[in-house]
Amino acid sequence: MNPDFRRTLRDHATRAYRQTGPFNYRWARGKLGQDAIFPALIEHGVFHDHARVLDLGCGRGLLAAWLLAAEQLAEAGQWPGHLPPPPRKLRFRGFELMGREAEVGNRALQPHFPGRVEFAGGDMCQVPLEDVDAVAILDVLHYVDYAAQEALLDRIRAALPPGGVFITRVGNAAAGWRFRFSQLVDRCMAGVQGHRHPPTWCRPLEDWQAQLGKRGFCVSASPMSHGTLFANVMLVARVPA
Ligand SMILES: C[S@@+](CC[C@H](N)C(=O)[O-])C[C@H]1O[C@@H](n2cnc3c(N)ncnc32)[C@H](O)[C@@H]1O
Repeated sequence: MNPDFRRTLRDHATRAYRQTGPFNYRWARGKLGQDAIFPALIEHGVFHDHARVLDLGCGRGLLAAWLLAAEQLAEAGQWPGHLPPPPRKLRFRGFELMGREAEVGNRALQPHFPGRVEFAGGDMCQVPLEDVDAVAILDVLHYVDYAAQEALLDRIRAALPPGGVFITRVGNAAAGWRFRFSQLVDRCMAGVQGHRHPPTWCRPLEDWQAQLGKRGFCVSASPMSHGTLFANVMLVARVPA
């Protein structure tokens, strides 16, 4: 995605957060303007049209904001030829431990996308996983212990239909100082948002891939920290059709 278009899409996706307060607005612009995973989700064609997306640890709903804004720009004829078309008619549900952040997402997006966005407070390990075609867990899995991660992966696999997709971003615990740097920044970001500093349960990339593979997912891994010192990897895990 070229930088000019990325700015256009960021501006479009974050406009609605302005009314939720300056911190939320700036946070949304920072994430959607800088984080490599958002353009990659479009460039890799991760989501199918009409997918029912469940975003676990959804924060302020930025994933939905980004993809719904992309659809709007494409509908308005403002989509550049260098990109694959964005997914159409997605519907989003999300759960977030910090209920107030889920509410920010609702306040920003629901007026603009009625019936297509619903975020709520909840622990991803406890919430129902039903009526989904795609599950996203971006930078969240390491906040629950190994047994909880594995139980959640089992439930996600069981919930997804053939052709469904699980998308996650994880840190690669085998990546040495880059991984330690990622962890440090993760803790700082949690602090900036007023979150507590919980313990984390990380794994080497190979282990994440094995966990997904043994559940029958076809997994592709892409480095997802371009231009930074992080050790993050996007995993796209598809249920065979
Ligand atoms: C690094 S942020 C990522 C937010 C969002 N996925 C994004 O990419 O913008 C991690 C989020 O996970 C949430 N979280 C941590 N543990 C969780 C759990 N067990 N259930 C739901 N959300 C959780 C945190 O409150 C935080 O908002």
